[in-house]
Amino acid sequence: MISFKNINKVYSDGTNAVNNLSFEVEKGQFTTIIGPSGCGKTTTLKMINRLIEPSSGHIFIENRDIRDYDIHELRWNIGYVLQEIALFPHMTIEENISIVPDMKKWSKKKMKERSRELLELVGLDPSIYEKRKPEELSGGEQQRIGVIRALAADPNIILMDEPFSALDPISRENLQTDIKTLQKEIKKTIIFVTHDMNEATALGDKICLMRDGEIIQYDTPENLILNPINEFVKQFIGNKESPWQTAVGVIADRNNEFIKNENEWRQIPSNPQQTVILKDNNGNYINMVKNSEIYDGETLTSDMSLYEATEIFKTSDQQLFPVIKNERLIGALTYRDIVVYLRNHSDIRTGSV
Ligand SMILES: Nc1ncnc2c1ncn2[C@@H]1O[C@H](COP(=O)(O)OP(=O)(O)OP(=O)(O)O)[C@@H](O)[C@H]1O
Ligand SMILES: [Mg+2]
Repeated sequence: MISFKNINKVYSDGTNAVNNLSFEVEKGQFTTIIGPSGCGKTTTLKMINRLIEPSSGHIFIENRDIRDYDIHELRWNIGYVLQEIALFPHMTIEENISIVPDMKKWSKKKMKERSRELLELVGLDPSIYEKRKPEELSGGEQQRIGVIRALAADPNIILMDEPFSALDPISRENLQTDIKTLQKEIKKTIIFVTHDMNEATALGDKICLMRDGEIIQYDTPENLILNPINEFVKQFIGNKESPWQTAVGVIADRNNEFIKNENEWRQIPSNPQQTVILKDNNGNYINMVKNSEIYDGETLTSDMSLYEATEIFKTSDQQLFPVIKNERLIGALTYRDIVVYLRNHSDIRTGSV
């Protein structure tokens, strides 16, 4: 866990970049930080690996003040993707990727294997790229190297400062998927700065929305969208697209009474005509039951748009749909939920949504 306690940062020229920041990031959680330019995102990130020292306050990692860690060890265990691409120009791509593994005294063989594995992860053929110098790569390719370099030594925490800003939409989406899969598999704690609200909602378990060095709302994407605490939050996430494009995960009913833990359900079976969604003790979806019949059931994924969901609803007999995010059951959705949502988010005067 990373925990900020009353952190302030005043730069030497008097700029107050960060104001009494207190928040916590759970282990294995994906947190996105978003906010207008100059609101203190990079400053916040750089204080975690001590590239910037706070003027006051404390930061803890696993309940230990980061100032009590050996600085090298602290940095080696925190992967960092800088906002500006910062590969070393005189080193090859392979050498750039191997900087931290080399400091950690990995064998040559292990470093080479790791570098190849990571290049493949981001779709760059190792036999072509490993011996090139950064200047022989496009901006987007260099950015991908910046991202995998942060992963090279398998750190527990990864800080990413707008890592995908120089990428075209397709590479960006690919890399977003890679990062998401990676985090799911190896449960890294990731703090990810972005300007892009769609990216923030797609990736973040939680979003930290900042303004003028302060946190305005730190919440799940769903809550930020459904319960913005003020006009600024609304503006920031608003003026997007039609409510039909809202992600299913945003309106999924997290406390749906027909989601049951399998063990509990076996002890107290409910009305047999009622459809029930069963989950295991870890919160993973198992299957559905109706009239004592167990069946797989069609599911919705949380990042599907409402429009896509209605396409599925149209061709299905099911009334109640499990909503899945990273294999976990996060809630349930019915046709009615969608109608109510669209009704509440349409322009009343024209009826258009
Ligand atoms: N070394 C510095 N000396 C003085 N002021 C600084 C310094 N670095 C940043 N600042 C100021 O601190 C504030 C926060 O900067 P920071 O880089 O953290 O913003 P940011 O949210 O990352 O912005 P962006 O989205 O543009 O990257 C800004 O007003 C910036 O001008
Ligand atoms: Mg920045």
